[in-house]
Amino acid sequence: MTTTDFTPDTAVIPGPATPYQDDIARYWDQEARPVNLRLGDVDGLYHHHYGIGDVDRDALAGPASGHERRLVAELHRLESAQADLLLDHLGHVPRESLLVDAGCGRGGSMMMAHQRFGCRVEGLTLSAKQAEFANRRAEETEAAAFVHARVRNMLDMPFETGSARASWNNESSMYVDLDDLMGEHARILEVGGRYVTITGCWNPAYGQPSKWVSQINAHFECNIHSRREYLRAMADNRLVPRAIIDLTEATLPYWELRATSALVTGIEEAFLSSYKDGSFQYVLIAADRV
Ligand SMILES: C[S@@+](CC[C@H](N)C(=O)[O-])C[C@H]1O[C@@H](n2cnc3c(N)ncnc32)[C@H](O)[C@@H]1O
Repeated sequence: MTTTDFTPDTAVIPGPATPYQDDIARYWDQEARPVNLRLGDVDGLYHHHYGIGDVDRDALAGPASGHERRLVAELHRLESAQADLLLDHLGHVPRESLLVDAGCGRGGSMMMAHQRFGCRVEGLTLSAKQAEFANRRAEETEAAAFVHARVRNMLDMPFETGSARASWNNESSMYVDLDDLMGEHARILEVGGRYVTITGCWNPAYGQPSKWVSQINAHFECNIHSRREYLRAMADNRLVPRAIIDLTEATLPYWELRATSALVTGIEEAFLSSYKDGSFQYVLIAADRV
């Protein structure tokens, strides 16, 4: 398959799919949490990740009647700031490049990448609903010739070896074996290309996954890896870290604000407690493909 072959999306995951991947596809097909949809409605960029940066208290001030609307807009601004930081670490991206969003969700990061670099962005998700949603959004914004999502397993990406300038996982690496994942990114990336992940990971200095980390795993049906596992899988797969940023402090204001909202999902306490007791960290790792 060539990189320009836009095969139609289908609900069947091509290639090796496990029963676990079927569960994850079902999970994201059914996911319709207001905290994700209402934030995306603010400007049409739909994210399934968390936010970073200080809360703008002035933006929240105003009459009580509009408080929830302002709070939603502020949470969304912090989530888009997170995606902006990821894009900042992709390095030089010429317009003719291919970018790959592995585990693209409803496509918010892909749209932002295309807006910034003007290049083609291909996204992969296990969820047919998410792929349809992302492609519909791309058509509505006339980015469809450049931004495209499809139902594929990111451990078996439909791109030729060395064809991508950069690729990333934005909160999507906790669903797969890291050695398999890094091996596949290393395969599709050109030499000198860039890989970036933003992820929650458990802190080896804490010892083992805390009860909060276990709670987050159960909530999202995922398997959070340790920081050490990320670095080891990269080192074993020709991905050499050039930036490792601990975003834990930077994400706390987002969680504290979110916990005050009517859009709470029940997992806020686990995130706040594990970030504060040091058992869980929010990190960005950018790596060169060598
Ligand atoms: C928490 S969401 C993150 C979505 C998106 N990256 C964002 O920032 O909005 C996790 C995503 O990972 C995807 N995913 C999980 N395992 C996958 C796999 N093996 N192949 C492709 N996508 C996968 C899910 O389908 C979902 O879209």
